Amino acid sequence: MISIKSEREIRIIRENARLLAEILEELTEQAAPGLSTAQLDRLAERMIRRAGGVPAFKGYRGYPKTLCASLNDEVVHGIPRDDRILQEGDLLSLDLGLYRRGFYADGATTVLIGPGSPRAARLLEVAQEALERGIAAACAGNHVSDISFAICSYVESQGYSVVRRYAGHGIGRQLHEDPEIPNFGLPGRGPRLRPGMVLCLEPMVKEDEGEVELLADGWTAVTPRGGLAAHFEEMVLVTAEGPEILTRGGARSRRAASFASAAR
Ligand code: MF3
Ligand code: CO
Repeated sequence: MISIKSEREIRIIRENARLLAEILEELTEQAAPGLSTAQLDRLAERMIRRAGGVPAFKGYRGYPKTLCASLNDEVVHGIPRDDRILQEGDLLSLDLGLYRRGFYADGATTVLIGPGSPRAARLLEVAQEALERGIAAACAGNHVSDISFAICSYVESQGYSVVRRYAGHGIGRQLHEDPEIPNFGLPGRGPRLRPGMVLCLEPMVKEDEGEVELLADGWTAVTPRGGLAAHFEEMVLVTAEGPEILTRGGARSRRAASFASAAR
């Protein structure tokens, strides 16, 4: 069952998503050579609590930390560690969730630490554009898999592959709600999108073919042959006027919305 959020619920979700986006942005500004991923995790938890929220991932299915910090060939769910020190050229993905006033917010971004390689920069561009295309497909009346197809067809056209093991999802009173939103598939399948649905779109893009593997810690997903991976996640509200990106502040949100209407 896909929940349709009321105006009151949307107001809270919007607030939470904006707080999450601000915290993620602050984390990316702090991320620099010499800092450990555990330091970033502690910073994330402090900022979430200062905003009146609690970490959404800590304790979720036994996950031990606030933040997921995944470096280079790590795709998602990297566990922050004191001995994991950021270095120039690292590709760092940060995934963060918070719970506040009865609702969840969830988002992710990937950044280069210092000047990175053109190879890493190109992967980032493709993953980011894949998310934009997914968002542009999140229009009322479309099917869930129109988002999946928009993401996958673009990623593959650029010579990369999507992760199939993890998917986007609805969000609200639960961190993971219906519908599941795979990052691959044919268009025109699955439920239709309706105004008031709140979705997390989260393409995970990698250089390698083949499925991700799990490390012995039970969480960290890595590429099968050590290729780089990137992950972006935004919360999107389906409205009658097109997708509204909740995890972006003012100007960025409007720019994306006009992109979406141009693509319709
Ligand atoms: N953003 C991820 C998701 O939507 C992270 C959740 S996994 C966790 O699935 F265990 F770290 F919480
Ligand atoms: Co998510």
